[in-house]
Amino acid sequence: MWLPLYVKRLNYADMQKKGLKLTAEEIYDVNNSSLKDAIVQLGGFCTGEFVSSQGLLLTNHHCGYDAIQTHSTPENNILEKGFFAATKSEEKTNPGLFVDILVRMEDVTGKVLDGITAQTPEAERTLLIQKRQREMADAAKENGQYVAYVRDFFAGNEYYLFVYQRFGDVRLVGAPPEAIGKFGGDTDNWEWPRHTGDFSMFRVYADKSNKPTSGFQAENVPYVPKKHLSVSLQGVSEGDFAMVFGFPGRTQRFLPAAGLQLTLDQSNPARIKLRDTRLKLWKEDSDANPAVRLKYASKYAGIANYWKYFIGQNEGMKRLKTVDQKKAEEASLTQWIAADATRGQSYGTALNDINQAYAGLREYNLSSVYVNEAAYGTEIVSFAGRMAPLYTLLKDPKADKAAVQKATADLRAVVEDHFKDYNAPTDKKVFAALLQLYASDVTPAQQPDVFQTVAKQYGGSMQKYADYVFATSFLTSKAKTDAFLAAPTVAKLENDPAFKTWNSVYTNYTQNILPKMQSHQATLARANRAYVAGLRAKNTDKVYSPDANSTLRLSYGTVRAYSPRDAVQYKYYTTAQGILDKEDPTNPEFVVPKKENELLRAKDYGRFADKDGTLHVAFTTDNDITGGNSGSPVINGRGELIGIAFDGNWEAMTGDLAYDKDLKRCINVDIRYVLWCVEKLGGGKALVDEMTIVNNGPNPG
Ligand code: ARG
Repeated sequence: MWLPLYVKRLNYADMQKKGLKLTAEEIYDVNNSSLKDAIVQLGGFCTGEFVSSQGLLLTNHHCGYDAIQTHSTPENNILEKGFFAATKSEEKTNPGLFVDILVRMEDVTGKVLDGITAQTPEAERTLLIQKRQREMADAAKENGQYVAYVRDFFAGNEYYLFVYQRFGDVRLVGAPPEAIGKFGGDTDNWEWPRHTGDFSMFRVYADKSNKPTSGFQAENVPYVPKKHLSVSLQGVSEGDFAMVFGFPGRTQRFLPAAGLQLTLDQSNPARIKLRDTRLKLWKEDSDANPAVRLKYASKYAGIANYWKYFIGQNEGMKRLKTVDQKKAEEASLTQWIAADATRGQSYGTALNDINQAYAGLREYNLSSVYVNEAAYGTEIVSFAGRMAPLYTLLKDPKADKAAVQKATADLRAVVEDHFKDYNAPTDKKVFAALLQLYASDVTPAQQPDVFQTVAKQYGGSMQKYADYVFATSFLTSKAKTDAFLAAPTVAKLENDPAFKTWNSVYTNYTQNILPKMQSHQATLARANRAYVAGLRAKNTDKVYSPDANSTLRLSYGTVRAYSPRDAVQYKYYTTAQGILDKEDPTNPEFVVPKKENELLRAKDYGRFADKDGTLHVAFTTDNDITGGNSGSPVINGRGELIGIAFDGNWEAMTGDLAYDKDLKRCINVDIRYVLWCVEKLGGGKALVDEMTIVNNGPNPG
């Protein structure tokens, strides 16, 4: 996950060796159009790429999922049927969805850390840095023309400024049926071999002078990107150069052994258990009622995705002995530090401090997981929490009317959004089950007061308490919440049992848990910084890439197969035959739409067939990606689009904590399968014709 800014200096020679034919400037250049101008961050959580001069964007189906679901109704269920806009007037607007296009990035470490020394107290350091980050970002915004922020890298050893254009008019153009876009469902998720057509299409709109607008404008026109990717029909072979450009969200590869251990034996098991409970209840009601299924589809997918992730991460940590590896690395660092007194001064106490801080955090960590996954995992509790800004204003006798009105208006949008996908009877079951686990699993001294009420007034039955809350709270229905917002008072909120529940959880967390954790986290911040600096000082021959933090990165490598375990060898690609082999009309995860089944049985692949005569569906590369990279382009050595990255593999689920060179793979949908789905299956030939389709012979590499 290299920083594009340094690719020329750090990686370019190696990239050429692997088969790259572009110049470093064609990949990243601030002054001239380069590949980076074809890449966008979508909604802050995914990646997309321009594939036409009219702002046409490709990303994953699971990135567009929420938008697709929002435009679906039981009568016109485009999530189920799929949809490709025949004309631009059929494209669907998505309030709140935006894309960010990077204008430039800059190393601002010197300016951010100016005058700060190892002796600067941690609290003072933090405040000073935050102030400088804010000031620099504000200056770079140039009166609201840009979005800008400064992020820290290498645990606060380096700082970079990022400046973006933000486009707020992003319209849904197309998606295959869910049975293709999410084929294999949670069973296949995070695994290879894969047969998912995980793509969807959007279009970015701008004003008449090609400038961003903050939202939908009827008179907007398709944005003309500085650069769009050509799409290659060539197909890939093992060893071909491949690079992925995108916005990886978060990795923690510098997490010390004590942190890994806490994740392994405390955080992950709790997350898995709580999500398991929530998902089972959601599924029960979804299976019984298609309208509930539609409402919960996107939420379910999001929670299930990381439920399986945590399971895979824990299995992987045990199998790959990730904690032991980290301990060995720490032991060798300790030796290196001990060999020299000046090293001791800079890094000497780091690992000790880290271990002590984690020992302290361990006392409270479970509470924080349960607050997030159990209390806030209950929809009504998180929703009640959204009332907090209004509550604060209502309590303040000096608060001005305009502020109260603004907070109320803001809430109307939240309310709209919340109830569109809400089913109170389902949430009531989740409330009873998750809060019951919270009350039984977390040490009593750290529990919110509300659980004492449950013990005293409801004989400890969370079910009875849930009956009461859902019978009396106004937060269970849109009409009642609207009525409250028409005349909000402190008393109404304070007497609402759902709000009371949230308030109790929140107050307990912020007053009794968080302060205890914060002192350890402050120690950890300082110690981590020294630890990471020490590692880099020790291993000067090694080029470290910084942890992912939702900023633009480039990963390069090759198309590559792998062996998942002893005696087993996987191919690097899958074909349409595998879709038919996996087909199971009785299992919603493996239904093949009728038309697709017919076309595949007839081997009607058209110009999208591989030279071997089959239709390739997905392929693996050894590119390094993580969540947030979803939707990223896979680009060949000539800069052409060959696939869309959409997943990682089960054998390397520890990838976000430790990178495994042999096992880690990136799972991509073959761009020819995408085009086949659009043109042959979806009747969207006009969209394919809009792209620059090329066939320039074998890929370099
Ligand atoms: N595991 C993928 C990722 O996080 C998401 C896949 C979505 N598909 C699914 N069946 N939930 O990038």
